Amino acid sequence: MKKLKLVGAAIAALGLTLGAGAFAAAPTSWNTGGGEQDEALHLKPDVENGLDVYEVCSACHLPEGWGTCDGTFPQLAGQHRVVLIKQLADIRALNRDNPTMYPFALPEAIGDAQAIADVAEYIQRLKMNPANCVGEGEPGSPEYALGEKLYKENCVQCHGENGEGNAEKYYPLIQGQHYKYMLRQFEWIRDGKRRNANPDMVKQIQGFSDADMRAVINYTSRQKPPADQLAPSPEWQNPDFD
Ligand code: HEC
Ligand code: HEC
Repeated sequence: MKKLKLVGAAIAALGLTLGAGAFAAAPTSWNTGGGEQDEALHLKPDVENGLDVYEVCSACHLPEGWGTCDGTFPQLAGQHRVVLIKQLADIRALNRDNPTMYPFALPEAIGDAQAIADVAEYIQRLKMNPANCVGEGEPGSPEYALGEKLYKENCVQCHGENGEGNAEKYYPLIQGQHYKYMLRQFEWIRDGKRRNANPDMVKQIQGFSDADMRAVINYTSRQKPPADQLAPSPEWQNPDFD
């Protein structure tokens, strides 16, 4: 039904013409909102159109929205709608470096604030990958125990007891996300490379060594979303695509 191959070819072509120079926007303060973020938040989403918009996204984030184990593409399925809207608006406004995705997130490619509202609603409803990729520290190992301790002391107040995030405050859900993706984002946030990062999180994790970082992300990668948010099996395929 959906023409994934064409999208793939378009992505390959665009990749060749993209220079890195365009991505040097000035730092911004966190979540000032306004503009199309606010607009998208208040529009009534049209899920049918969300599926149409998502066709472009599926070339990288996959039809299920599960991303990839190697961490190149994050799982999007199940993420809070408001977080998706904020991240998309940030990517469009160059507050977050994402040269791979940038051209596909632009109004010319997917449409205006309504398209953002629609696709965010579609993605939020997708069932999550029940077998996301995790770090090496099995429960019972010293690494897992360290991660659990660090998580309880430093992360619960924002990302929740079980990594469920907080939609009201734009704190992302991180349970069930791929280990390698989170490790990269966490390091970028710690080291100031992700410009849209929450400054309170940056402060909270300043003292984290690389080993602490791996331990806490191992722990979060192993936090499980509630069963009703998960797809029935790792082989599940999104029936909206064939
Ligand atoms: C060409 C590949 C590509 C396409 C097409 C693409 N993305 Fe992405 N997307 C990425 C990559 C790569 C990242 C992670 C960037 C990073 O590491 O910071 C990402 C990150 C994101 C994030 C941030 C996730 C998070 O956990 O913070 C959102 C939201 C997102 N994409 C939504 C979309 C939507 C919606 C579409 C379709 C309109 C789309 N993407 C199309 C490659 C793509
Ligand atoms: C003060 C609140 C706060 C604290 C404390 C905090 N975070 Fe965050 N975290 C955030 C916010 C907000 C974002 C999204 C930033 C943005 O707007 O792009 C985020 C983003 C992330 C991301 C990237 C998610 C994605 O999908 O791209 C990871 C991973 C993460 N946090 C893990 C942690 C861990 C692990 C801890 C504890 C060691 C922690 N955070 C502590 C608020 C917080």
